[in-house]
Amino acid sequence: MSPYDQIEPIERASADALRALQLERLQWTLRHAYQKVPHYRKKLDAAGVRPEDLKRLEDLARFPFTTKHDLRENYPFGMFAVPMDDLVRIHASSGTTGKPTVVGYTQRDIDTWSDLMARSIRAAGGRSTDKIHVAYGYGLFTGGLGAHYGGERLGATVIPVGGGMTERQVQLIADFRPDIIMVTPSYMLAIADEFERQGLDARESSLRIGIFGAEPWTDGMREEIERRMGLDAIDIYGLSEVMGPGVAQECIETKDGLTIWEDHFYPEIIDPATGAVLPDGQPGELVFTSLTKEAMPVIRYRTRDLTTLLPGTARTMRRMARITGRSDDMLIIRGVNVFPTQIEELIVKQPKLSPHYVLEVRREERLDELTVIVEIRQDLASAPTAERDAEAKQLAHHIKSYIGVSSDVKVVDPGKVERSQGKAKRVIDLRPKS
Ligand code: DLL
Repeated sequence: MSPYDQIEPIERASADALRALQLERLQWTLRHAYQKVPHYRKKLDAAGVRPEDLKRLEDLARFPFTTKHDLRENYPFGMFAVPMDDLVRIHASSGTTGKPTVVGYTQRDIDTWSDLMARSIRAAGGRSTDKIHVAYGYGLFTGGLGAHYGGERLGATVIPVGGGMTERQVQLIADFRPDIIMVTPSYMLAIADEFERQGLDARESSLRIGIFGAEPWTDGMREEIERRMGLDAIDIYGLSEVMGPGVAQECIETKDGLTIWEDHFYPEIIDPATGAVLPDGQPGELVFTSLTKEAMPVIRYRTRDLTTLLPGTARTMRRMARITGRSDDMLIIRGVNVFPTQIEELIVKQPKLSPHYVLEVRREERLDELTVIVEIRQDLASAPTAERDAEAKQLAHHIKSYIGVSSDVKVVDPGKVERSQGKAKRVIDLRPKS
């Protein structure tokens, strides 16, 4: 047994004890950022606030937000609060446009991250006696190395497979008999398909738990993966700017959203339009302030992720609901807000459709047109055209009645939608850039 197999006292601490710890750590973070990062000093001065102005947690609302734009403006190393010498690691997230965002870690930051990933894997049901197949990408992306260090810290046996080479993923699962897989949910589906293609029953595999994140997914997708893979599918959340994976983790005993590791990250939900802080229970944009980060503290970082803060259940710490999407992914089709996850929920309800899909948006004569391209299930590949048409019609009907937009649904052959080996690309936006 490893000490990491035990729940940590802070996970069960009283709300008062947790708030006291947060206040102390928040005050430290504000001082640290103000003193060491010229960007924060300028921003706080311009907003007329000083670290000493934070007397209660609620005072944080007076401090300015940090955005991806701030990180880009300070590319590559301008947001670091320690000398380069003290850094032991750098990660970066590619982003779809422009420069990547760069993040750095001291040895203590890497230790904290490893501890939190070990805590996350344990909350997902993992133990030091488990073997963990890591199929998140290794490299500048935080998924692979984050999971790797956490698995080792837990005392488990880590198999650092990385993303890609799907045939080999299946072979290694069959031969090495891992208990846990850590991978994006979309790539898990591609691996499940490969099991089928090789004539293997994935439900018979050694896998007991899947720890899935790095992209939005739905409860419908969870059911699909659990049914096909015969494992417990658990959600993990994080982002590089705040640390990497392991900022929040779903607990296997409740499977009711993600417990935020509030001893290291202070969450707020804001109205994305006005920036006003919203009470717990109301949906909005998630904002994080780091509480212990040395190399790159972040103050009120706007994640663009949309969710709701909920009271703790399996732990004292608050939970966040499954992410519905990023404000950047939201499509506005003829005035209606549409998230890919809303369409995913409807697709997974139709048993003849596979969960491999992509949305295309075009602008025809100033009107946005949405096309949903979704695969028919492998075993129905030879179904007559009429059957596919009926599926397409039904999905278009559901999209119209539940979401309120008209769409053109194309039910295509298995394998026609490009498979992700990491984060799935759900939207192809062909509208002219304005
Ligand atoms: O995706 C870190 C990570 C790796 C998390 C592995 C979980 C597992 P970034 O590449 O910086 O970091 O992307 C962060 O991914 O702001 C969300 O939009 C999205 N995201 C991450 N986890 C989830 C999740 C990693 N469980 C961005 N559900 C975040 C929905 C997620 N979206």
